[in-house]
Amino acid sequence: MNNIILVGYMGSGKTTVGRLLAQLLDYSFADTDEMIEEREQLTISKIFSEKGEEAFRDMETGLLEELAVSGQERLVIATGGGMAVREQNRRLLRELGSVVYLKASPETVYDRIKGDTGRPLLQCDNPLSRIKEMIAQREQFYEEASHTVISVDIMKKDEIAQMIREAFVI
Ligand code: S3P
Repeated sequence: MNNIILVGYMGSGKTTVGRLLAQLLDYSFADTDEMIEEREQLTISKIFSEKGEEAFRDMETGLLEELAVSGQERLVIATGGGMAVREQNRRLLRELGSVVYLKASPETVYDRIKGDTGRPLLQCDNPLSRIKEMIAQREQFYEEASHTVISVDIMKKDEIAQMIREAFVI
């Protein structure tokens, strides 16, 4: 399908880059976290605390299934950082379109998200070591899910969007 999907760990810039890219391509923009929050009328933190992570993961899979059957195209879709972990999701992501992995180092992520309370999985005593652990576990899934990898550490968000646009002009 003719869509571009951004995957990668928290703080890798999926939402900001996705919005910029959608403007450049004149595509619509969708963010799976925002869609879930809107449907549930709850923040991600509340969904985790009140319904649990597994319920959130099911919502993510359900949303990808809906997007795939909707046939909607010309979308840039920013996904939550855990979206690529389920095998079923990786398959759905690739069905939806061209998948780009925004690859950020743990240090870049930590710099961007420190002090942010909206990410329930990083509310812990040592977020940097948590980030390192999680990225090490997930790296293979982001790679398997994606068609293209972009290292984002030293790039500006508008440069990343431009680079993706150039790679995917259809
Ligand atoms: C998560 C990433 C978050 C959000 C939730 C879980 C994860 O999205 O879906 O907090 O498991 O990595 P962002 O990557 O947009 O922060």
